[in-house]
Amino acid sequence: MAQTGNIPPISVSGVCKTYRDGFKAVKKVSFDIKSGDFTVLLGLNGAGKTSMISMITGLNHISSGTIRIFGDDISKKPYRAKSHMAIMPQEINFNPFSKISDSLVFHGGYYGIPPEEVMRRAEPLLKKARLLKKIEQPVSSLSGGMKRMLMLIRCLIQKPKLLILDEPTANLDIEIRKTIWDLLQLEHGKGMTTLLTTHNLEEAQILCSNVLILHHGELVLDRSIDDAIEGLEEKFYSIHFDDPISAKHLHGFSAYHAEKRSDHKASFRISGDQDIGHLVYKLHLAGLKITNIAPSSHQLEQLLHQATL
Ligand SMILES: Nc1ncnc2c1ncn2[C@@H]1O[C@H](COP(=O)(O)OP(=O)(O)OP(=O)(O)O)[C@@H](O)[C@H]1O
Ligand SMILES: [Mg+2]
Repeated sequence: MAQTGNIPPISVSGVCKTYRDGFKAVKKVSFDIKSGDFTVLLGLNGAGKTSMISMITGLNHISSGTIRIFGDDISKKPYRAKSHMAIMPQEINFNPFSKISDSLVFHGGYYGIPPEEVMRRAEPLLKKARLLKKIEQPVSSLSGGMKRMLMLIRCLIQKPKLLILDEPTANLDIEIRKTIWDLLQLEHGKGMTTLLTTHNLEEAQILCSNVLILHHGELVLDRSIDDAIEGLEEKFYSIHFDDPISAKHLHGFSAYHAEKRSDHKASFRISGDQDIGHLVYKLHLAGLKITNIAPSSHQLEQLLHQATL
C-alpha cells in the first residue's frame, strides 16, 4: 500500500475527455488537492464538472492525462485507488426493498467492515439525521431528502480518507441541507479530504476553503477561496446581529448596499476606498451589536461570473 502522508489525495495531470461524438468536455486540466482540503468544483451547466468527477472516481474513461488517488493511478490500479474514497453520486442508487440497516451492512461488507462495526459507526450519524428509529424500515419508505442523508451516511461509515460529492443537496429543503452540512463539517474536522460539486454557492461558501472553476472544459481558477476573494474589487459580507434588525437600522448604510437577509442578518458591499473596519465602527455607532461577520456567497457568485465571462 502506498504511503499516503504527503501524497496528494487527488492529483490530476493534463487530463482531457473527448466523448465518442468528438466533443471535448475536459481540456488539459491539471490540479492537486492537498490532504485535509475541502474543495468545491464550480462551473456553469455543461462546464465539464461531472465529466471530471466521473474520471476521478473511475466511472468514466480518461481520454489522455493521468489521475492519481493517493498516488495510485485510477486507470492502472482502479481497485486500489477507489479503496481510499467514498462517492456520493447525484442519483439515488439504493435497492428500495432493502431495510435501511441491511443496506448499510451490505455496503460496509463491500469494504470489509463487519456488521456490528457498521452499526456502531452508523448509529450516531443516523441519530443526527433523525433516521435511527427507521432503521428496520425499507429504504422505499424514506422521503427523497432522507434517502440522500442515508447516502451520505453510507459514505461516512467507510471512514473514507477522500469523500467526493456530486451535488449532494440539490433540491433539498433547508433543514436537510443543514443536517448534511453539519455531518460534512463534523467528519471533515476529523481530517477527511473532500471534493464537492454544487450550484449552491452558499453551500460552497459555508463548507469549502478552496475553489476550482471549470469553464468550457478548461480550468480557469484554482485557489483558496480567501485569496480569490481578496482579489475582488467588491466584497460582500453577511453580518449577524444580536438583536433583530429593521429597515430603519440599515437606513444610513445605503453606501454599503445594505440589505436585510433575515431578522438578525444583513448583507453589505465593500468597494473602492471603503473598508470593513470602518463599516463595523459605523454599525457600532448605530447601536447594532455584531455577533458574526462572514464573507457572503455573493463573493463566489462574483468569482464565478468573472471567471466565466
Ligand atoms: N456521454 C456524453 N457524450 C457526449 N457529450 C457528453 C457526454 N456527457 C457529457 N457530455 C457533454 O460534455 C459537456 C460537459 O458535461 P458535464 O455533464 O460534464 O457538465 P457539468 O459541468 O457537470 O454540467 P451540470 O452543471 O449541468 O451538471 C456537456 O456539453 C455535455 O453535453
Ligand atoms: Mg454535472
